[in-house]
Order: sequence, then structure tokens, then C-alpha cells
Amino acid sequence: MSINRRNFIKNSVTAAAGIGMVPSLAGSVLSYPAGTNANDKIVLALIGARNMGWGDLRDLLKQPNVECKTLCDVDDAVLEQKAKDLMDEGHPKPLLEKDYRKVLEDKDIDAVIIGTPDHWHCLPTVEACAAGKHVYVEKPLANSIGEINVMMDAARKYKRLVQVGQQQRSGDHWKSAIEFVQSGKLGTIRQVKFWANFNYGAGNMPVPDSEPPEGIDYDRWLGPAPKRPFNQNRFHGSWRMFRDYGGGLMSDWGVHLIDMGLWAMNVKTGPRSVFSMGGNFANRDRALEMPDTLTVLYEMDGFNMIWEHNGGVQQGPYDQLYGVKFIGTNGTLIANRERWKVLPEWGEEAYRMEAPEEQPSDKKSHINHCANFINAIRTGEKLAAEISIGHLSALYAHLGNISHWVDERIFYDEKTRRITNSEKADSLITPAYRSPWVFPSV
Ligand SMILES: NC(=O)c1ccc[n+]([C@@H]2O[C@H](COP(=O)([O-])OP(=O)(O)OC[C@H]3O[C@@H](n4cnc5c(N)ncnc54)[C@H](O)[C@@H]3O)[C@@H](O)[C@H]2O)c1
Repeated sequence: MSINRRNFIKNSVTAAAGIGMVPSLAGSVLSYPAGTNANDKIVLALIGARNMGWGDLRDLLKQPNVECKTLCDVDDAVLEQKAKDLMDEGHPKPLLEKDYRKVLEDKDIDAVIIGTPDHWHCLPTVEACAAGKHVYVEKPLANSIGEINVMMDAARKYKRLVQVGQQQRSGDHWKSAIEFVQSGKLGTIRQVKFWANFNYGAGNMPVPDSEPPEGIDYDRWLGPAPKRPFNQNRFHGSWRMFRDYGGGLMSDWGVHLIDMGLWAMNVKTGPRSVFSMGGNFANRDRALEMPDTLTVLYEMDGFNMIWEHNGGVQQGPYDQLYGVKFIGTNGTLIANRERWKVLPEWGEEAYRMEAPEEQPSDKKSHINHCANFINAIRTGEKLAAEISIGHLSALYAHLGNISHWVDERIFYDEKTRRITNSEKADSLITPAYRSPWVFPSV
């Protein structure tokens, strides 16, 4: 996108705000004005390049006239490998950077992808919004409720587009599943259940602390998280089983699947209450802080929601290791990333409903999600997983973990952003940031 256009938008917002008008951009915080310069180049940078961020970048670069200027990571080996991979795929040589703040200073960059571990989503997102960049941030939106709240405040204050990497929102078979649930054909839905059984949820075998490998800025990888010696298990890929950096299966898979339940049931607010039970019951010899076994009861208006995960096993109901099901009086709809189908209830003489044919996924949800982000910037198309969507499902996931840690049923008040019945639980809403990193205020 040309600098002139960026300045034009910035100036028109400032000018309109200055004379008390509602500026067009502010009036439509979730979309850019459509029409002008729809073919302008969009320049991206990737922050956190090893795995999912890289996948996001690749699908974003498949969109017309999108370019990657900079790769940012704290690991030299990741930077070098991904720069080579980019060039092998015919893209220009990117700049390489270890400090994301330098990336945000670059006026050429229109949008950033944030593919860092969960404890490193908040600061770059807030600062990117403040710097005028749009953001594609991976899920879960962040690693705590305090962080997701301030991120949403930043997106709103700076009027930036923030797409959360909950790509199911852009999947056609998910859309048709949600439409089917909402059609009423299943009858009254009294329970929505989610399950996620994955071997990686058992953690790895313990290994001793060691020196960080050459070329890694470990202190910067820790960032706002507490200082501690390097341990390979708490690092690339497997950090998600440790509380300082991630929320285990509850937030890793929870946000994806719970989002489908909230979408289908048209839920826009937090639960009435949350109660979790679990622990590390089956993998006590492993290196993990998050429970390998967890069941969470969400009290909703007129129905129940239940989350369940089992780390270290991969069998699940209906022969699916993960999924969501909607239990209606006429039938149950079961969905995962591969397909959805309906199991009708038998009435006295006939099935209570006609089950549609099984609906397979076209496996395009991620590329669609990336196209949607670019179209939102260019044409004002509505974001499929706008930040409030990522915020809500992350809220449910974090409340599930907090209830487990304090071993209490908890009540969260969205207005005050507090857990109202437990000081212990309330104290877990916002993490303490390690100096020199400061928890952002917006
Ligand atoms: N949408 C999905 O389906 C999906 C799938 C997998 C992962 N994810 C999400 O993607 C995110 C990343 O997960 P992953 O599996 O790619 O993790 P990963 O550990 O493989 O990669 C994270 C990268 O971030 C880098 N990093 C850490 N701190 C940094 C900093 N301050 N600045 C720049 N780079 C930094 C690391 O060095 C590493 O290269 C997580 O939030 C995860 O939940 C989403």
C-alpha cells in the first residue's frame, strides 16, 4: 500500500476526529473504506517464523500483490532457513530482524503476522496497532485474560484490523455445519460438547536444563515471562505445556473448537460460571505443567457446554480424536476439520429428522482465512475472525484453566473484567511482566 494512501487515511481520521465528526474509518472500525487502490501492494512482516507463522505467511503470499519485507525471529537458524525457503519459492530476499520493535518502526510495512508462542502475542499486537499496522495474530489471542482484554482495547483505539488465526471461521464446511445447527432441524440443543485427545498433550520426557543453542536470543524468547534456565522441553514447539508460555490443550485446541460452539449457539458473552476438574493423572513422569486430563463445565443460558481433553491418547467419541457435537432433541451434529454429519434420533416409528449427507471439508479454511485478511485490508470485506471472536473463545479457554488451578467454580464479570467470587482466581487474570517488558496500557 502506498505511503500516500496510509497518510491520507491517517490524516482524514485525525482531522475528522479533531472537529468532532465521526470519521468514516472510526465509524467502521472493523473495515477499511472500500474502493480506492484495491490493487495496491500490501507489504507484510512475519514475527515468529518457525511453524504456524510461516504457514500463515505462505498462504498470505498466495494472495495477489502481497509481499514479505521482513522476517523477525529470535533464532538465527529459523531466520536463515525461512529466508532461504522464501527465496526458493521465488520471493525477494527478506530483511532479517531479531527485535520486533524495529519491524514496527518500518513505515513500509502494512501488516504483521504474529506467530510467536502465546506469551508473546500481546505486546507485539498492541504495539503494531499503535504503529498503524494491521495484524494477523495466531490463536489463542494471548496467554491470559488481562492480555486479551488490552489487545482488544488496542485494536479498537487504533482502529486496526486484527484477524485471529481461528481459520475454521473461513471453512465452508464449518459454515454449513453452523447454518445447519442454527436452522433448528436438530430440535432443541441442550448440550454442546468438545473433546481433544492428542498425544502431544502428554508432554515430553524430562531433559536437564542446558545452555541455549547458539544463535538464539533466549532472554528475548522469554520476554515478559519469568527468567529461568533454558530447557529444550519449554522451548520451540513444546512450550505450550508450560503455564508461563501457553495454556496446554485447553487453549491450544480449546479456542478452535469452543469458537465453533459459540458461533453456532450465537453466544456473544462469557459463560455464567465455569468449573473445571482435572490434573496430570496419566503422565506424571513427563515434563508438563498443564493438566493431561481436564473436564470443564460451562454454565450457559439454556444449555450446557462441556470441554474435555486427554493428553497422551488419540481415541475419541465417534472414532474422532477431536471434535464438537451439538446434542439436539431430533439429532446430534458432529463436526471436525474433516467433515460434519448428523446422527438422527429414532422416534416411535421413524427418525425424528432427515439427516443430510455427510459434508466433507474442502480443506481450504486456512487459505480462505488469509484471503479474507487481505480482502479486509483492501476492500473492507468483513473479517471472519475479528479480534472479538478470538477474544471470546480465549476468555472461555483461560477461565477453564483458571478454575482448574484454583479448584473452584468461578464467575467472571465482563464489565469489570474481574472474577468476582475468588480473589485467588482473580489474581490470575493478568500475568506479572518481567522487566524491562511492561504490561501495555491502552
Ligand atoms: N491456527 C492454527 O491452527 C495453529 C496451529 C499451530 C500453532 N498455532 C499458534 O501459532 C503460534 C506459534 O506456534 P508454533 O507452533 O508456530 O510455535 P513455534 O515454537 O514452533 O514457533 C514460534 C516461533 O516464534 C519465535 N519467537 C519467540 N519469541 C519471539 C520474539 N520475541 N520475537 C520474534 N520471534 C519470536 C520462536 O523463536 C519460534 O521460531 C502459537 O500461538 C500457536 O498456538 C496456531
